[in-house]
Amino acid sequence: MIVEIEGLRKIYEGKQRVVAVDGIDLAVRPGEIYGLLGPNGAGKTTTISVCTTRALPTSGKVLINGIDVVKTAAVARTCIGVVPQYNTLDRACTIFENIHFHCLYFGFSRAEATARANQLLTQFHLAERAKAYPAQLSGGLAQRVQIARAIAHRPKVLFLDEPSAGLDPQSRIAMWEAVAGLRKEGITVVLTTHYMEEADELCDRVAIIDHGKILVEDTPAALKQSIGAQRMYDLDLQGREGLEPLEAALKGLNGVNDVETLPKGLRVLAHGTDGLLSEIVQRATPYGLRDLSITETSLETVFIRLTGRELRE
Ligand SMILES: Nc1ncnc2c1ncn2[C@@H]1O[C@H](COP(=O)(O)OP(=O)(O)OP(=O)(O)O)[C@@H](O)[C@H]1O
Ligand SMILES: [Mg+2]
Repeated sequence: MIVEIEGLRKIYEGKQRVVAVDGIDLAVRPGEIYGLLGPNGAGKTTTISVCTTRALPTSGKVLINGIDVVKTAAVARTCIGVVPQYNTLDRACTIFENIHFHCLYFGFSRAEATARANQLLTQFHLAERAKAYPAQLSGGLAQRVQIARAIAHRPKVLFLDEPSAGLDPQSRIAMWEAVAGLRKEGITVVLTTHYMEEADELCDRVAIIDHGKILVEDTPAALKQSIGAQRMYDLDLQGREGLEPLEAALKGLNGVNDVETLPKGLRVLAHGTDGLLSEIVQRATPYGLRDLSITETSLETVFIRLTGRELRE
């Protein structure tokens, strides 16, 4: 395992005592893209801060490539790359210089640093903007520069904190491609996100975290499968009493896994089966069907099931 987190806790002692990370255990395999998915304040950034030696844990242990990030922080830092939640490019330096100085800081010779910076600018399609300053770049380009800079010293693990926050959809996809491309270089990626599509699209495994704890961890496919259905039909039958016969009828339909009660009607959990929608509508119409919404199960569904809340309110 390239990243090992054991019993990690982080308590901020201030005017208010905040338990930001409340006993996290996880292990990331070499070459994996691993996602921490959770809502605001779940403890994602704090977990990354400890892993990247930016914060000290209250208790517990983090090993990166077998190296303890507390006992031997300076050594650990050589195998870690970080893209923080907010843009930390040096505004007074060009794009080239941002990467170049990073290499020098990590002990590259001037010639090596120049070669590495140029190579990364080409790899990340930034060569034309080498002389631009960070303020002149779009959010998407700035994010690509941050990734290029973070891997410049050839770390084993790259930590990305909310890599697509504030990016337009097109830049987000470009960023996903850049991150997926790191696989070829054998770089392990740990990222945080509250975008379930991002976790779903990009990550080999995902830990869903809330209130500093891991609720579940698995591949996106397995997490979605744990719902036991591919699709949810929410029937708005507001004000109707006596839905039991309808519930029983719906449960009997081919392809239906389960039926649950909602405050304003019923939820049908089902596999994609031909003609199911019209069957449901037919059965529900006599019960005052007012509206119907269909949702494909997603990681968001998994989160809602576990917490009763949405990832973003
Ligand atoms: N330096 C700090 N001092 C005190 N409390 C903090 C500090 N940093 C974070 N917290 C608190 O710890 C909890 C976890 O915060 P953290 O930033 O790790 O969450 P997050 O999952 O990254 O959230 P977001 O999605 O908003 O980035 C929150 O309640 C936050 O207010
Ligand atoms: Mg955060």
